[in-house]
Amino acid sequence: MPVIIPPIKSQGIKTKLVPWINDIIRQTGLDLEHCGWIEPFFGTGVVGLNAPLGGRHIVGDTNPHLINLYNCIQNGDVNEHNMRVFLEHEGSILEAADEDGYAYYREVKARFNQEHSPFDFVFLSRAGFNGMMRFNRRGEWNIPFCQKPDRFAPAYITKICNQVANASRVISHGEWEFLNQDFRATIERAEASDIIYLDPPYFGRYVDYYNGWSEEDEAALFEALQNTPAHFILSTWHHNEFRENDMMNRYWNQFNVVTQEHFYHGGGHIENRHPMVEALVFNFELEQVRVPQEEMELDLKFA
Ligand SMILES: C[S@@+](CC[C@H](N)C(=O)[O-])C[C@H]1O[C@@H](n2cnc3c(N)ncnc32)[C@H](O)[C@@H]1O
Repeated sequence: MPVIIPPIKSQGIKTKLVPWINDIIRQTGLDLEHCGWIEPFFGTGVVGLNAPLGGRHIVGDTNPHLINLYNCIQNGDVNEHNMRVFLEHEGSILEAADEDGYAYYREVKARFNQEHSPFDFVFLSRAGFNGMMRFNRRGEWNIPFCQKPDRFAPAYITKICNQVANASRVISHGEWEFLNQDFRATIERAEASDIIYLDPPYFGRYVDYYNGWSEEDEAALFEALQNTPAHFILSTWHHNEFRENDMMNRYWNQFNVVTQEHFYHGGGHIENRHPMVEALVFNFELEQVRVPQEEMELDLKFA
């Protein structure tokens, strides 16, 4: 199955890791058709949207804009049709605007920071520099414009609208709850028959308003995962060429760990533009993979 891409972007998006995560999920030995999905750090949603599970989905994030977008997709307030009308309209104003669109981008940014419309959120995410998502200390959108001729070309708008339609299709086929809350409250909802997938902000790396992450948070996460009756899979960083993640030894090496090199393209910080060894930490033994090889190859091809 090709990987479903969400309509918003972020520098920490796990698109490329989806086949690897799904491979581990398939080795839990659980009955995936009835298994629940708990995701306390939902982000763009790419992992949850692609999880091969048939049970309920309870997902949370402290960023209200992400959760609002998915709630609006779920209740139909945002759909492929009204997103197309919106992007065509805004794209044409951007095209005709002075200063190569910079001034209009700033206008949409100011409007979003006041009104928090999910449409403006998608617009900013898709017109901002390098597909980055960052909020300043006041919780305001803080990414500069990425100038490109014909920024919202018809093919680009169609691509975004298809992403909205695909997200909507996945959500409407399952039972989903999108909650704007701290990870502790989401983890508490997990039962023994669920899988919790966690992708917290990486400790010791760059953070923004919604991505603050302290040693206390990491300790609380460890405690919550130690006590959960559910199967969990945690994404974290293992090391890069500059340093190691101290939290691996402090907490995560007590569980099972597999690693893979990953290259993040986004981000202004030099460290974020180098390869990083990613880890998946999990609290169960792997059962033999039952996925046909062709399916795995297809997953990787579309990542
Ligand atoms: C690394 S990102 C998740 C990326 C996601 N897996 C993806 O592929 O798009 C971490 C997310 O955790 C959220 N977050 C940060 N602190 C949180 C907390 N205390 N509780 C819940 N969510 C939090 C951030 O808003 C951000 O969306």
